[in-house]
Amino acid sequence: MAKQTQYQARMPDANGYIAYSDQEHATWQTLMERQTAIIEGRVCQEYIDGLERLALPQDRIPQLGDVDRVLLESTGWRTAQVPALIPFDTFFELLASRRFPVATFIRSPEEIDYLQEPDIFHELFGHCPMLTNPDFAEFTATYGKLGLSASKQERVYLARLYWMTVEFGLVDTPQGRRIYGGGIISSPKETFHALSDVPEHYPFDPIDALRTPYRIDILQPLYYVIEGLHTLHDLSGQDIMAMVHQAMELGLYPPKFPPKPSAPQAANA
Ligand SMILES: [Fe+2]
Repeated sequence: MAKQTQYQARMPDANGYIAYSDQEHATWQTLMERQTAIIEGRVCQEYIDGLERLALPQDRIPQLGDVDRVLLESTGWRTAQVPALIPFDTFFELLASRRFPVATFIRSPEEIDYLQEPDIFHELFGHCPMLTNPDFAEFTATYGKLGLSASKQERVYLARLYWMTVEFGLVDTPQGRRIYGGGIISSPKETFHALSDVPEHYPFDPIDALRTPYRIDILQPLYYVIEGLHTLHDLSGQDIMAMVHQAMELGLYPPKFPPKPSAPQAANA
């Protein structure tokens, strides 16, 4: 089970409606306004298309049913309302059945710039636009299915692949290098940092990604760049578990950051 959190997910009423306070809606609005401006020219076209389709409200936290209608007609995905932190088993089960876990809480004003837990802004603004893209949607479901039948150690390797793609992936486009990873897109600092000269960029190679250690509490020191979202589609058709075993044999790359003493992480990063 995952680590402790100060946050609690809001439960829906009998009609599936979740009530939030004015302050929580205001936090959403602040995040939406700020991040919508920052991502311009930095995110891939597939993300922009998805964001337009979702038409997330600016001034209030969206209801999951409204998001689900768009996801279902785009790629057969929908959201799943979950607690603030969920175990790996639940995470993989949901992804395998094309349900994207969304913890229905929003960060406190004190943590508006940074929090470790994935809140509703991260899930809806960061991830859901990309889930309208068939290649990305297929890869995410494939990852869930692989994780379901993987051993504990295999899951740790798989998590790195997810981190380097779904969360922190970059993509080369005719317009230039762009972001598609939701962990970057929902973070103002990381949106600037990822495309700056500070971090290293490597061409995406799945074995390399599986072998790359990461920390969840720092700006990433390196990112992997795919040639297009078709790379994720192609990868979904390959034997990823064989790659995991190859990566396990080869072992981890040395980390590009100092070690962190505390260990456990949430599955739904
Ligand atoms: Fe995430």
